[in-house]
Amino acid sequence: MIPQSFISDLLNRVDIVDVVGRYVQLKKGGANFMGLCPFHNEKSPSFTVSPTKQFYHCFGCGAHGTSIGFMIEYSGMGFVDAVKELAQNCGMVVPEQDDKIPPAQRAQMQAQSMALSEAMNLAADYYKSQLRSAPNAIGYLKSRGLTGEIAARFALGFAPNGWDNLRSVFPNYEALALVEAGLVIDRVDEEGNHRKRYDRFRERVMFPIRNTKGQVIAFGGRIMEQGEPKYLNSPETPLFSKGHELYGLFEARQAIRDAGYVLVTEGYMDVVALAQMGFPQSVATLGTACTSTHVQKLLRQTDTVIFSFDGDKAGRRAAQRALEACLPHVSDNKTIKFLFLPAEHDPDSYIREYGAPAFEQQVHEAMPLSQFLLRVVSAEHDLSEPEGRARVQFEAKPLLQAMTPSALRLQIVRGLATMTQSSPGEIEQLYELSKPVAEVRRAPQRSSRPQPVGLELQIVRHLVAHPPLAFTIDEAGLGAFTNFGEEAAERLYQLIAAAIALGPQGSFAALAQHLKEQGSEYDGIISEIAAEPESDFDAIKTYLSSAIRQIRTDALKAELAQLFASGLSSSEIGVRYREITAMQDQLLREAEAELSAR
Ligand code: CTP
Ligand code: MN
Repeated sequence: MIPQSFISDLLNRVDIVDVVGRYVQLKKGGANFMGLCPFHNEKSPSFTVSPTKQFYHCFGCGAHGTSIGFMIEYSGMGFVDAVKELAQNCGMVVPEQDDKIPPAQRAQMQAQSMALSEAMNLAADYYKSQLRSAPNAIGYLKSRGLTGEIAARFALGFAPNGWDNLRSVFPNYEALALVEAGLVIDRVDEEGNHRKRYDRFRERVMFPIRNTKGQVIAFGGRIMEQGEPKYLNSPETPLFSKGHELYGLFEARQAIRDAGYVLVTEGYMDVVALAQMGFPQSVATLGTACTSTHVQKLLRQTDTVIFSFDGDKAGRRAAQRALEACLPHVSDNKTIKFLFLPAEHDPDSYIREYGAPAFEQQVHEAMPLSQFLLRVVSAEHDLSEPEGRARVQFEAKPLLQAMTPSALRLQIVRGLATMTQSSPGEIEQLYELSKPVAEVRRAPQRSSRPQPVGLELQIVRHLVAHPPLAFTIDEAGLGAFTNFGEEAAERLYQLIAAAIALGPQGSFAALAQHLKEQGSEYDGIISEIAAEPESDFDAIKTYLSSAIRQIRTDALKAELAQLFASGLSSSEIGVRYREITAMQDQLLREAEAELSAR
């Protein structure tokens, strides 16, 4: 958990114009900066960045958020990574609550990861430069149909023959960072002393693997002749974890947005060849099964994921693993499909043999997840026998249980019911789907709370736009909110507490970021505020206090009316009547005082 106060400080410290400006060309237009929206396709700019609100907003597609939100949406990082990245840029170190790492060690870790990425950069540059003077490697890439342009796009390189070529790159070949980055291997003799160090990658075509920020974090090296292993990869290092990274994602980001989908393949060469042949929206898992983290990462970039698997048995097995990785992420606004190429083909060989239009057709005809799931569970059983149908139900059970409730899950249940001669209700009961797993995860009742309207909505909006307003509301004001009803008052109290937690310098951006992490309840309001011109704090402050007075006046009036209608005697009414009119007087005086102060 990163403390809220740190997020607030961070958002005060970074400038969203710099953050967005690193990726989007921005031009000043009035109080804001404008540019082409990176989140949808457009020819004239409707994407605005407000330096005063520290918020971006697109009038075209409605995308909006803070610097943190931008990093998450644009580069597909997780929240924590986005915060860390921004913090690093402005020299802040992210504290962690219940952090057991002492600051000195933290600084050392940071320095170490800098050293590793520096080493990777130098190595990548070296391999790239070596490719230019290696006719056999260039010949190999040409024989695989690649142009120099594509090789440059993927920063392909070549590790020449020899045991310690990296000596010429690193003045200190014995540096610890080199082995930690996986660039060299230390061989130790039997007694465990005499250590001999040598380059990991020798005589191989090099594919640098970049993270979503574009930093080189690992390499894959392909042998050019026959030989084992065909691909040699970097080991797991502090920079690189196979189960998290996708080859080509950095290079493909814009193309994925343009195409509206991402194509997931199994190999380096598939990604590069597909890009060459007009499918730059391709990525690859790195010789591992597709993990749930991979799927999550992809779904942050696009709503549609199309997996392409080789037509062989291994491909089918891989597809099944991918299906399992996808199930927890299935929802009704996402599309996941599976494409199976004819046996003996991978995307690279297929597109070379049959051409881009034929591959496009394959993409077009990819099998929806629901169909693939039903096929997987029923493939090996005889549906004409009760035992066979029961087995199908047995095999489908963990898959359906892995899904959160959605319209699509219901559709699959229906399909399964028909297939196994049961009713959807029977299946749901058998699988205990009526107790949806997700119910526990989702914050209760919050989403079903009615949206604020009228005066209440005005107050909510002003509080979100100017969190320090929360400090101006006194006890009586807080009490007045109960007139909106209990739920509404509760919402306002939560909002005020969140605003106060940000401190007197709390900004719209910080509160918006906090509210977003809690759910989508305030999305509409945040988006409206982002789209509006900046409002004046003092004017809003006056408005708020008069609005609160209005609520209190109305409440008093209503109570008086009730008192008179109650049929109580005048002496019984008397005490309360005097109290109410005294409060009304008081409110009136406050209003007059405020007017004359202006
Ligand atoms: N792979 C690996 N190590 C190997 C073999 C494969 O890491 N020894 C990974 C690589 O990421 C490779 C992917 O698995 O890209 C797919 O392997 P394969 O289908 O054997 O290779 P292709 O991608 O078809 O490679 P090429 O077309 O260059 O033969
Ligand atoms: Mn291949």
